[in-house]
Formats: sequence, C-alpha cells, structure tokens
Amino acid sequence: MINASIENMIDFFCDKRNRSTWHKLRIANFPRFVKYPTSQVSGWGLTSCLQIGYIEYMADLIEKIVSLCKRRGFVFPSSEIYGGIGGFWDFGPLGVELKNNIKSWWWQTMVQIREEVVGLDSTIIHNPKVWQASGHTLSFTDPLRECKSCHQRFRADQLKGEKCPECGGKLTEVKQFNLMFETFIGSAKETANKAYLRPETCQGIFVNFANVVDTIQPKLPFGIAQIGKGFRNEITLGNFIFRDREFEMMELEYFVKPGEDEKWFDYWLKERLNWYLDLGISKKNLRFFEHPKKALAHYSKRTVDIEYQFPFGWAELEGIANRTDFDLKNHAKSSGKDLRFQDEKGEKLYPYVIEPSVGVERIALALLTEGYREEKDKKETRVVLALNPKIAPVKVAVFPLLPNKPALVKKAREIYDDLKNCFNVAWDDRGNIGKRYYSQDEIGTPFCITVDFETLEDKKVTVRDRDSMKQERIAIDKLKEFFQTKLA
Ligand code: GAP
Repeated sequence: MINASIENMIDFFCDKRNRSTWHKLRIANFPRFVKYPTSQVSGWGLTSCLQIGYIEYMADLIEKIVSLCKRRGFVFPSSEIYGGIGGFWDFGPLGVELKNNIKSWWWQTMVQIREEVVGLDSTIIHNPKVWQASGHTLSFTDPLRECKSCHQRFRADQLKGEKCPECGGKLTEVKQFNLMFETFIGSAKETANKAYLRPETCQGIFVNFANVVDTIQPKLPFGIAQIGKGFRNEITLGNFIFRDREFEMMELEYFVKPGEDEKWFDYWLKERLNWYLDLGISKKNLRFFEHPKKALAHYSKRTVDIEYQFPFGWAELEGIANRTDFDLKNHAKSSGKDLRFQDEKGEKLYPYVIEPSVGVERIALALLTEGYREEKDKKETRVVLALNPKIAPVKVAVFPLLPNKPALVKKAREIYDDLKNCFNVAWDDRGNIGKRYYSQDEIGTPFCITVDFETLEDKKVTVRDRDSMKQERIAIDKLKEFFQTKLA
C-alpha cells in the first residue's frame, strides 16, 4: 500500500530491507529514476535514497491527483478549449460538491453553532476608498523583476541569483507590483471610475461593522464571518490549485476587548488546528509557522500560519492574524463615521480583531493529498480517496447487481429515489460490481449499496464500506438511519 505520509514511505521502502534491491524497486515505482545509473546509486546511503524517493514520490503524487481531478470531474483548467488561463480553475460536478461540503462544514462550525458569530455576504467590488483606507492600494504588492530577454516575470523574493532562471537573461530592477485586479465602473474607462476586485473578503466585514452591531447588538467578544470570492493577480503560479488568481476565502473577524486579544489569538489557534484534525488531516502533516515580527503584514501584531505538508512541501494552509484595531480605526478616519463599539458600561472603544482566514481550494488540495491512497492487490491497483464522509462529494452509490434484470433495477431505483432526498446519491449500473466499487472508491464515496436477487426475498441490501471494504446486509427500511449515523 502507498499513501502520502513520510512514515508510510519509509515503512514501504524499509520493509524491503535488502538495500541492493533499492534501485530496482525505485525503477519499478518511479520510472523517471532510470536516469540515475546503478553504479552511482549503489553508493548512496539509505537516507539520501529515502529523501530522493520521497521527493520523486511526492512529484508523482501531485501528478496523480491532477490527473484524477481532471478525469473524474473535480477540477478543470478554466477556458480549456482556448488553451486555458493561468491561475484560474473550474470545479466540475464532483469538485463543486467537494467545495460546497467544505464551505458548509466551515459555516456550520464557525457560524451556526456559535451563538456569538453571525454571517455576512458583502459585494466583491467596494467603493475604492475602502482599499485606500485598508492600505491595499499602497501596500498590497509583491516585488517584481522581469527578464529583459524572454519577458518572463518573477517574484524578486523567490529568485536565486541575478539571472533569469528560464533563459539566463538580465533582469530588470525590482519594482512593487500591486496584486489587485482593476476594473471600471460605468461606461467611461477613466481613473475616476476605477475600482478593484476584492483581494480579501474581510474589508466587507469591517465596512459593515456598524450595520451588523446595530442589528444584533452583540457583547464582546463576537464574530462576523464571510465566505466569498477573492482575486489576486499573483505573479507566480504553479502547484495546481494552491495559488490561484481567483479563489474562495472563508474569513472570520472576531472582535475582542483590547488586552484580551492575545488570549483569543491562542484560542483560535487551537480551534483551527482541531478543525483540521476533526476533518481527518493527520497531526504530522500540520504545523504552525510563526511569522517573524519584521515580516508581519502592515496590519498585524502577530500572525501564525497553519501549514500543511503538500506534495510540493510545507506551505500555508490558513493564516491566523491579530489585526488589532487597525482596520476599524482606518475606516473610521477615512469615512468620518464613528466605528467605535459601545460596551455594557457605555464606554466606547475600538475592539481588536482576531482573524482566521483560509482559501477553500487550499483545503480541497490538502484533503485530496491526505486522502489519496493506492492499494495494490494481485490483479490491480485500487485507488481510494479516503475523504471524511462529511466532505465526500457523493455519500452513497446505489447499484442493481445486473442492469438487465428489471426487478433488480426497479428495487434499486426505489432505494435511490428514497435516499436522494437525504444525501447526495449516485446511480451506477455499468460494468461489473467490482469495477463499480473501484470507480466509487476513487472519488471517495464512503458507501455502496448493491441490490441483488436476495434483496427481492429478504428486503435487505449489501452495504460495502469504502475503507474496510467490508460488506454487511442492512434492511432497506433501516438504510436512512444507518447512513445518518455513519455520515454524522
Ligand atoms: N484577510 C487576510 C488574508 O487575506 P492571506 O494570508 O493573504 O490573509 C488568507 O490569505 C488565506 O487565503 C491563505 O491562508 C490561503 O489559504 C488563501 N489564499 C491566499 N492567497 C491565495 C491564492 N492566491 N490562491 C488560493 N488561496 C489563497
């Protein structure tokens, strides 16, 4: 069995303890390794073999995930028939379900079960003054260098050396490149009409702060949450859906008493880490990264990223920031509106803000990485997406054992029609049952139901579990209850 963790990688290779077989093994598992001659490899220690094997394995893994996503309808390159468009991805029939499940789980756990948190849905385009007050027109920039020969553009902070990494050409001096997409409101493309697609959703929350406070009259601490599209004209892309130019953000602005901000920051760090553990991401693939003081964003007193071990290395999954009273104060100053909060004693103050913020696509990629498994048996390889059932796009697949037996099809259809009112259910009557199971395993469907001839007699069906592959007979009238418990 191969899965994505380093421990399993090490087990996998160390099980074949005889080191002289290592090269053969590698060629079998990672054909691209053929480029290393046996004579060179035989001198390598186990550690370097494992490291290289791991890198090769991870490169292989991302390719497999990309291919699975395309083949099974999770993710398509946007505008593909016209050659695509860098940094934009479309989510297919399964991808949209996956993203919706991530978003609704976040909404349920971050908003609905919390008495002190409410939601908001603000516009994507705001009055451009919002971005002046927030500091984005001035500071939402990346350092850019362009190659004078091939005109490729690079982030200066990611370049090693003074030459173009693509063609070796000379590079321009560093200039600051603003990542906000510009657009124009109305028919005249004049500076006065210039607006921006939002690069983060939270500013919609800050500019609605007084509206929400007036309507719900909360006590501190309280939160306002929002899910919505964000746009960033990123200079460097790559790594599939990890860094996009259009993506979906889930942000909570949690308003607290100044002086209590550090306590609440620690609270949200723990909460958010546990959120990922509850989703089934293993602890060893998650870690905190504390931003050094001198590298903090212009609004932040402290920022900690939750990083995930993606196939291309550790990278930011979610950011948790202490934004202090920066945003409310600046919007108050800029708009002339009093955005202070009046507490129980009648005292007016600017609350501090703790902000957990994450992109839906990054969570999707982490879950696909975490869940991807290949299990080799004698005949073939079973690909399994071991997604948490809460997040799996399809919950149950229903099969009639034989598609040409009307009695089986009729009974299976009755079950399908009944269950589809409660869960996202798939129907499949193509090929043999083994193939149908494998096809559902690959997209992460936790349960499959087969209606066979016995069903017509005993009113029971076979329910097969994706992870254990165990099968059990369940009475048709108990199916809903069974799945409700298993999928809770
Ligand atoms: N309001 C705070 C904020 O925007 P950020 O660290 O720039 O902070 C928050 O972004 C989260 O949004 C990141 O942790 C990441 O999950 C996601 N994100 C940021 N840029 C992204 C991009 N270009 N593509 C996909 N997700 C992105």
